[in-house]
Amino acid sequence: MEKKLRVGILGATGMVGQRFISLLENHPWYEVVTVAASPRSAGKSYEEAVGDRWKMTSPMPEAVKHLTVMNVNEVEKVAAEVDFVFSAVDMTKEEIKAIEEAYAKTETPVVSNNSAHRWTPDVPMVVPEINPEHFEIIKDQRKRLGTQRGFIAVKPNCSIQSYAPVLTAWKEFEPYEVVATTYQAISGAGKTFADWPEMEGNIIPYIGGEEEKSEQEPLRLWGTIENGQIVKAAEPVITCQCVRVPVLNGHTAAVFVKFRKQPEKQELIDRLVNFKGLPQELDLPSAPKQFIQYLEEDNRPQVTLDVDFENGMGVSVGRLRTDSVYDYKFIGLSHNTVRGAAGGAVLCAELLTAQGYIKARD
Ligand SMILES: NC(=O)c1ccc[n+]([C@@H]2O[C@H](COP(=O)([O-])OP(=O)(O)OC[C@H]3O[C@@H](n4cnc5c(N)ncnc54)[C@H](OP(=O)(O)O)[C@@H]3O)[C@@H](O)[C@H]2O)c1
Repeated sequence: MEKKLRVGILGATGMVGQRFISLLENHPWYEVVTVAASPRSAGKSYEEAVGDRWKMTSPMPEAVKHLTVMNVNEVEKVAAEVDFVFSAVDMTKEEIKAIEEAYAKTETPVVSNNSAHRWTPDVPMVVPEINPEHFEIIKDQRKRLGTQRGFIAVKPNCSIQSYAPVLTAWKEFEPYEVVATTYQAISGAGKTFADWPEMEGNIIPYIGGEEEKSEQEPLRLWGTIENGQIVKAAEPVITCQCVRVPVLNGHTAAVFVKFRKQPEKQELIDRLVNFKGLPQELDLPSAPKQFIQYLEEDNRPQVTLDVDFENGMGVSVGRLRTDSVYDYKFIGLSHNTVRGAAGGAVLCAELLTAQGYIKARD
């Protein structure tokens, strides 16, 4: 790319926003030129606005420290500075829906981490290795919004990334019934142990809204475009329990699956390790070389050993075995704020750029 695209981050001071900032440091295609947050932070330097809230293990990049934080709600002003934005604001669903549409209508592509638009019929919700063809719906969305280059694209919830890629790799064996329990890290709630000490040594059996997302969002990934809308797939049916556990980063899933076509264990492993998509074919900057790894050891995947596989962009699977009630069971693990949040959105943006949906403003 001759000149880097100018990127804005909405919600830049929050946990996901900080992850965007970290991942985009030295990105070959993108340069963060604008950071925006709530009116509380607007007007301060990024460093000052974040204060003691920096939650990444790597230091705050020098290039952003002195950027002046803009007010997310000043849409025209922010949009004028950038070629596209990543969205990670924490507002009500209705507010997020409205503000992301307002950005799109200023002819600014929005790649969002938020759930607000995940079920808007003409908004693509994409894991680039799974359903890149859903980006084709952008032309219908642009018609509705009356835009030439502005649109919204979203990535799905962090919880599903530990099993939806696995089930996709096994599609030819027709999985039709899935039971999953997710063991979810506290960073998924935007927290560390410093700001959520009650989580030390604790388990909380409830994460608001998470079970419905975990059951329904994979079906939308596997859905089809019909008459300008994405229609979700009917199968496999998924039932899920989501549990908060005392882990900083990394969502683990324990999953049971029934198949219509009975596979051998080795066939299932082969499909996992050979599973590739457009990001690998196009060698996108953030694409993991190996999307899914299979670990043979009985005590893997483990959060501390495996969460950073492929810089947090890969999925680790282990303990695949036959089951006495279901056909097979396995454990999956993925990084919730990298693949499950900012990293997944960056990969979407890279594919959108490679396919010409995002480009420099004229
Ligand atoms: N954490 C995860 O792993 C994860 C994963 C997937 C999706 N998400 C979603 O991503 C979003 C951000 O999550 P997070 O964990 O990064 O939250 P967070 O740490 O609380 O950050 C929220 C960001 O939104 C800004 N903000 C808050 N209220 C605002 C308002 N009224 N107007 C404009 N900006 C406002 C904050 O700015 P100030 O600093 O100025 O307050 C901050 O930049 C949420 O919608 C969350 O559900 C999070």
